[in-house]
Amino acid sequence: MPALNFELVDENVMTQTAIEALLRQKIGLDAITIGSNTIARAVNRRMTDCGLTDINIYLAKLQASPQELEELIETVVIPETWFFRDREPFVFLSRYVQSEWLPKNAGKTLRVLSLPCSTGEEPYSIAIALQEAGLNPINFWIDAADISKVAIKKALRGVYGKNSFRDKNLDFRDRYFTSTGDLYQLNESVRRKVNFIQGNILDRYFLVSQHPYDVIFCRNVLIYFDEAGRQQTIQLLNRLLKKQGILFLGHSESGQKLPSQFDSVRHSLAFAYRKTESLEGEKVEVKKNPNKGIFSAFARESKIAENNDNFRSYKSSTTNKKSAIPNPQSLSCDETPQLLPTPSLPSPVSNTQSATADLATARRLADRGQLQEAAKLCETYLSQNRTNADAYVLLGQVYQAKGDRLQAEQCFQKATYLKPNHYEGLIHLALLKEERGDIAGATIIRQRIQRMEK
Ligand SMILES: C[S@@+](CC[C@H](N)C(=O)[O-])C[C@H]1O[C@@H](n2cnc3c(N)ncnc32)[C@H](O)[C@@H]1O
Repeated sequence: MPALNFELVDENVMTQTAIEALLRQKIGLDAITIGSNTIARAVNRRMTDCGLTDINIYLAKLQASPQELEELIETVVIPETWFFRDREPFVFLSRYVQSEWLPKNAGKTLRVLSLPCSTGEEPYSIAIALQEAGLNPINFWIDAADISKVAIKKALRGVYGKNSFRDKNLDFRDRYFTSTGDLYQLNESVRRKVNFIQGNILDRYFLVSQHPYDVIFCRNVLIYFDEAGRQQTIQLLNRLLKKQGILFLGHSESGQKLPSQFDSVRHSLAFAYRKTESLEGEKVEVKKNPNKGIFSAFARESKIAENNDNFRSYKSSTTNKKSAIPNPQSLSCDETPQLLPTPSLPSPVSNTQSATADLATARRLADRGQLQEAAKLCETYLSQNRTNADAYVLLGQVYQAKGDRLQAEQCFQKATYLKPNHYEGLIHLALLKEERGDIAGATIIRQRIQRMEK
């Protein structure tokens, strides 16, 4: 039997540990909970796909290539989900809407977030439950987010096999699906109520300027996170939930320590919590958050957005000026569903550069047709004003004028990610989506615009 090379074994163990640390840092994944073997299997699969046999070379690739990191994340995440998982949360949601939310909010829109949504079964179950509870479809809207692009693509297709139907009561399947052999296609009426977003919960720009929601489902993800990831997520949920809003956790997460204003509701097996008024206002009791400063700044931002939740006043204040930027040429068709990009922002630049970076100048340059210079100025400006939606819209217009519609669309996506009610950004986005044949995506945005105009 050949002698073991202990040095090599040690080195490989260290590399595996480094990969686990990278996954913890990027997506909060706790190697202890998920198991080092599970991560090792995912790494082996990726190494085989990349044609690599040396784990150290694979680590170097992983560190250098965001695309490879994304592939590893896709391989390691657990997208396990099914329609009406655990049932009781949906029973409670229906009762809450009928007996409490509707009487107080007639004619308003109930906003729900499903995070993470995996392949869509959870947000679609919410849409069905709300419809069955008697809520008019024009009076609710569901945002649903997950880190996995593969999962989001499946969710957008809305086609499911029998593994997605594990609940005993399947009456809803006859009412909302069309059967095609072993598969079930979800009806368009339900699909169009859910807006899918791809993003990382632990990204500090994640849903950064989203207005608070009435209801949030955040089930079966905290269990995979390490302590820091859990605390960061709880801060995010606290920021994203309205006062008096309802938070649903997974049953194995119900022991999670929440900020003091979260009260458990009296409904067995719903694992739901109401965010009550707190004497300390929005203050969160959570500790150990490495990004505390950043997050409290975002909480303030979101508070301002909540208080200004009025489209008309926003619309009049936004830079809705007609621009002389010329119109683009034709667009090459991209079949990939348009997913919300995780903002990858330019790295900061020096103060000297920033001094010359001025949005008004960029607009003037663009209007004069000096597109290259305008783009450069916008990028410099954005490197120092990372959450400025107007700058993204201007940069998008510049790209559009240059004929780069893919980049343009990404800019408008970012603008509307940062400011969901950015009228100009939404209009540009809808038009670009229509032009490249993404009618479903464009329709969703147009519905959003219509809701704002009411
Ligand atoms: C077990 S599923 C839960 C789905 C659904 N909430 C449910 O309870 O049925 C966990 C999901 O979390 C997603 N996920 C893991 N880490 C994430 C992160 N950092 N940001 C966003 N989604 C994440 C995975 O992609 C996976 O789809």
